[in-house]
Amino acid sequence: MSDLNALETETLAAIAAASDEAALENVRVAALGKKGSISALLATLGKMSPDERKTEGAKINVLKDKVTDALAARKLVLKEAALEARLASETVDVTLPVREAPVESGRIHPISQVMDELTAIFADMGFSIAEGPDVEEDDINFTKLNFPEGHPAREMHDTFFFNPKEDGTRKLLRTHTSPVQVRTMLNVKPPIRVICPGRTYRCDSDQTHTPMFHQVEGLVIDKSANLGHLKWILEEFCKAFFEVPNVKMRFRPSFFPFTEPSMEVDIQCKRSGGEIRFGEGEDWLEILGCGMVHPNVLRNCGINPDEYQGFAWGMGIDRIAMLKYGMPDLRPFFEADLRWLSHYGFRPLDLPSLAGGLSS
Ligand code: DAH
Repeated sequence: MSDLNALETETLAAIAAASDEAALENVRVAALGKKGSISALLATLGKMSPDERKTEGAKINVLKDKVTDALAARKLVLKEAALEARLASETVDVTLPVREAPVESGRIHPISQVMDELTAIFADMGFSIAEGPDVEEDDINFTKLNFPEGHPAREMHDTFFFNPKEDGTRKLLRTHTSPVQVRTMLNVKPPIRVICPGRTYRCDSDQTHTPMFHQVEGLVIDKSANLGHLKWILEEFCKAFFEVPNVKMRFRPSFFPFTEPSMEVDIQCKRSGGEIRFGEGEDWLEILGCGMVHPNVLRNCGINPDEYQGFAWGMGIDRIAMLKYGMPDLRPFFEADLRWLSHYGFRPLDLPSLAGGLSS
């Protein structure tokens, strides 16, 4: 009897002390498992006389029931405690911002964004996109564009040349997008209305110049294309691109071998405190070069200047991106620094469109 009491006290104490479900299971096995203490007691019943078995059996079974109940009760307590602990450790703060999915956390580079904006604006005016190779023929980059051999204008371009071939010709990295005009005129019958965005190269590097940069060229060839049309197109472009209702422009005489007359274009702006705003103010900022395509260029490209005429313009994409989005230095454009890109980049799913807003 005292043995049973001692076993009961000991087992119930062990149950109460079990700190988790695994420890509780160990106590259960030690008492009720095949080789457990209570199971061992039950095994002794067979050797007892029937009377003894009756009294002892009843006591052992009472003990077994008590232990079984205590195990079940403790298990419930431990289960609830474990759940409480888990809930406490896995709390979710629903006020925190949702983390972006990978497809949304990438950013579009400002150059790509501005190219998409240019495409949206000029596509709306009926222009298509033309492209050409970065590694260009000297003849197409210069000669067909009416740069005579040895003309000083060739020197202005700080060209990257490849080694000359056996026949004496040499390739180069195109110094501007104007060769794409030539390729287009050689391949497409007028009327022509294209813009040519792309990479260009010059041996030059400082805060606003990098050896590789981007330009966009525009070309219109038709029987009556004239400077009035050019002026309208450029004005519409500037209003749409800088997202302002009005902008004044100033056309200054200039020189390019491939246009005659040639002009540089300034747009009205307001500079204050390191900031620049377009469509207001008294200041001017140069943004592009343009002119009527030189008859020699038309001729060089197989177009009869007595039948067709046209105009062209060219501007730096990096420069207009810097102006529009307030980026002071050009060099980080090409440094692939993710911190810069996450600050200045654009959301990948917000495609620029005239209807939806270019940069919103
Ligand atoms: N190709 C010129 C440059 O890189 C820019 C330019 C000026 C392009 C006048 C043109 C143009 O088409 O008409 O400086």
